[in-house]
Amino acid sequence: MNQPHTGRQTKDGIRIHESSDFAGMHAAGKLAATILDEIAEHVFPGQTTAELDRLIEEKVTAAGAKSATIGYKGYAHASCISVNHVVCHGIPGEKKLKDGDILNIDVTVIVDGWYGDTSRMYVAGKLSRKAERLINVTHDSLMIGIEAVKPGNTFGDIGHAIQTFVEGHRMSVVTDFCGHGLGRVFHSPPNVLHYGRPGTGAVLEPGMFFTIEPMVNLGRAETKTLADDWTAVTRDKSLSAQFEHSIGVTEDGYEIFTLSPAGKFHPTY
Ligand code: MF3
Ligand code: CO
Ligand code: CO
Repeated sequence: MNQPHTGRQTKDGIRIHESSDFAGMHAAGKLAATILDEIAEHVFPGQTTAELDRLIEEKVTAAGAKSATIGYKGYAHASCISVNHVVCHGIPGEKKLKDGDILNIDVTVIVDGWYGDTSRMYVAGKLSRKAERLINVTHDSLMIGIEAVKPGNTFGDIGHAIQTFVEGHRMSVVTDFCGHGLGRVFHSPPNVLHYGRPGTGAVLEPGMFFTIEPMVNLGRAETKTLADDWTAVTRDKSLSAQFEHSIGVTEDGYEIFTLSPAGKFHPTY
């Protein structure tokens, strides 16, 4: 269903959506966030990430929606599930989760042509103190980045807010992956960096839709991609966490499309 775009694009190729487009993004974002709410009870030691992915695909289909990731650049699953030192793009598989494993589940759905992209952290069994610290800093960094979203601010302001906060906690921001514009397409301009300098980058305007999705490592920032061409891991094997929201710029700030209807975000409450 290719519906023509309305509205305009900035000189950086960033689409400016119309106020009537927010409703479609809210619907798509709400479905993705609901699926993340519902998957929580299925995360436990002994569970496989393949089974979690199967449940996610079932929920996408049951909602009459489509998975954005199945068939995307050859990817074959309805989610990315990134365990422990996997930074992002973990491929669901038959390996069983162990007590204390932390995992990011990232789901992108298409509802009436609009994309909803969000991810959260979960724990199998008991959450360690150091993993909880990492997860809290990562979530706070996302929300601090979102607080910088308003017309007149720049993408550099968002990245700077995230980087300053994370490094203040002696953790590192991954620079090899970034957030992205979305709307009726999955990955579109701009690249939303999770680091940067204030006042640099494109200026935010009402009607821009994009994700912010910081990845934070307990150790160093460097990543490498495994031979499967997807799985990105920390080079030093340190733990990594990520949270992602899809958001829209409004006249006076932002709207989060992927807020949890159940008010959930933390792995244990
Ligand atoms: N959902 C991811 C993102 O946040 C993209 C996953 S692409 C895939 O942008 F092909 F790996 F699924
Ligand atoms: Co994304
Ligand atoms: Co995502």
